[in-house]
Order: sequence, then structure tokens, then C-alpha cells
Amino acid sequence: MDRNLALNLVRVTEAAAIESAKFLGRGDKDGADEAAVSAMRKMFSTVDIDGTVVIGEGEMDEAPMLYIGEKVGLGEGHPKVDIAVDPVDGTVSVAKGFNNAIAIIAMAPEGKLLHAPDMYMQKIAVGPKVKGRVSLDMPIPDILVETAKALDKPIEELTVTMLDRERHSNLMKICRQMGCRIKLVMDGDVAAAIDTCFSHTGIDIMLGSGGAPEGVLAAAAIKCLGGDFQGRLIAEEESEYKRCQKMGVDPEQLLELEDLVCGDEVYFAASGISDGNLLKGVIFDSENMAKTHSIVMRAETGTIRFVEAIHRLNKKPYIYANK
Ligand code: FBP
Repeated sequence: MDRNLALNLVRVTEAAAIESAKFLGRGDKDGADEAAVSAMRKMFSTVDIDGTVVIGEGEMDEAPMLYIGEKVGLGEGHPKVDIAVDPVDGTVSVAKGFNNAIAIIAMAPEGKLLHAPDMYMQKIAVGPKVKGRVSLDMPIPDILVETAKALDKPIEELTVTMLDRERHSNLMKICRQMGCRIKLVMDGDVAAAIDTCFSHTGIDIMLGSGGAPEGVLAAAAIKCLGGDFQGRLIAEEESEYKRCQKMGVDPEQLLELEDLVCGDEVYFAASGISDGNLLKGVIFDSENMAKTHSIVMRAETGTIRFVEAIHRLNKKPYIYANK
């Protein structure tokens, strides 16, 4: 795949971030999501790929745009790729004006991204120094001890991040009993997973469960960053087992990084909607100007780019709604 495609992906996440940021704090999570989806889709139509959405807004009959199987990009004659999107990871955060919301895309050659069913996944994410040292098969105390050892710090200095959810109360209890710090996030476990790969975020490990589609997106980012990510689907009901079967995924399997994202030809881009540890949110300077902050990466080279861009919205009326 052409390396310049990476920059085209940033254009798509920037557009989604700008449009959804207009909804920040307005109590309208569906509006924020629809605006991001629509902007993403319009910007995709300018990208020279023959793309198929494999992780998107839902099944064809559930989502009008960016549904699973939808074709995106300029189409025939361009590289055939699979696309995973989350136009707003943190829709509730956008609605409430909270931090940590981002717009995300991952891209890989056809068949290289796991087609994850829309259900919960147990997750573990760590940075490069901890890669290969921990696994979801280990008891939580062992994971924490091994992570602290790999990072050469006392366990009391270890910071674990996870979504602030009731289902994590036991996990929180164990982490605190072991002496670790916990940084809870309201929403957005893709950004939380990425944070583990940057020491300046102060986050050492992400644990807990979240959406399986977000798990694949996080795995794509972590592959580019040289860290490690594992997931295991949480199928509780008959219907969820059936969904796994339909999508050809074993619900019992420990999904390693390579199972989630196969090979190194993977691209990842994300733009901040609201401020996070790593990315700043969209700033509207004046009526027609917006500043975005994004990250774009390729696993093959491992280059990480932070892109700050100033957009003149009135110059692209076909993308940006006039609000
Ligand atoms: P959306 O904003 O895309 O709905 O997802 C936000 C999110 O926090 C994800 O990052 C996370 O994987 C999932 O929701 C967790 O689900 P739940 O809110 O049901 O715990």
C-alpha cells in the first residue's frame, strides 16, 4: 500500500472530529455520531482506495452509513483494503463535554483485520517494554507484578487504566489491594490503550472489558506502536455465541495481537474531538477555522506522526456543514 495513504486517512478522521466537536456538551450523542459518520463518509469518497468497511456503525440494516460491507473510497483500480472505523469513540463524552473522545480509522489489506462482532471483549494493553511479558491467561496480581518488573518500578508506582464501570469493581479492588494507582476513564478505551505506549501519559497498563470492535482498533494502533494487546470475547447469551459463529470467531479463544491485526501492513489514524492525554480536542478559532490534533502511524515502519492542522471550513463546503 502507498505510504501516502496514511495522510489521506488523517483527512478523514480530522473531518469526523471537526463535525462531531460542534456537538461537544450539547447533550446530543446521536447528533455527534451522525455528524462524524457523514463527514467521514464524504471525505472517504476522495481517498484512492477500494475499501470495504469491516468494522463500522453496524450491520447494513442497522446503520445508514459506514455499515459493515459498505464500499468506501474511489473504488476499482485502487488498492483493495479493509477499513475499521469508529467515527466517535466516546459519544457520551462528546454529549456531556467530557475528555478523551477521538475519531478513529484503521486500514489493512483485505482479510487482515478481525471481523469482530459487536459485543464485549476482555482486554489487556501494554507498551513496548512489557510486550511478551503478560497475558490475559495470567491472574491479575501476576499481570501487575510482571508489568512493574518489566517497567523496573515498584508496584506502588504502577498506574492501571480502565473504564469506570460497575463491572470492573472486583478488578479495581485487586489493583488497589496490590498497591497500584488506577486512572479511570469515563469513555473511550481505544485512547486509553494507546496511552500505555507513551510514558509521558503516566499510564502503564490497560485492563478490563469494552467493545470488541474498539479492541481491533486499539490492536491496530498498538501494532504500530510496538506494544502488546490481547482480547477475549465475552459471549454470555446464546445469541452472542451465534453471532461469533456467523462471523467465524471463536468466543473462547485468546486473541493475540496477530489474530486481531494480521501482518505489518496496517495504518492507523485518530483525531482528538475533546482533549485527551495524547491528543488535543478540536479548537474552533473563529467561525470558519478549526484546529485539529491527530496521530497517524504505519506498523511497517513504526513511524509515529502527530499532525496539527488548521482548517478553513468555508473552503470545503462539501465536507463541513454550516452550523
Ligand atoms: P462509543 O462512544 O463508540 O459508543 O464507545 C465508547 C466506549 O467507551 C468504548 O471506548 C468502549 O469500548 C465501550 O464504549 C464500552 O462499552 P460500555 O459503555 O457499554 O461499557
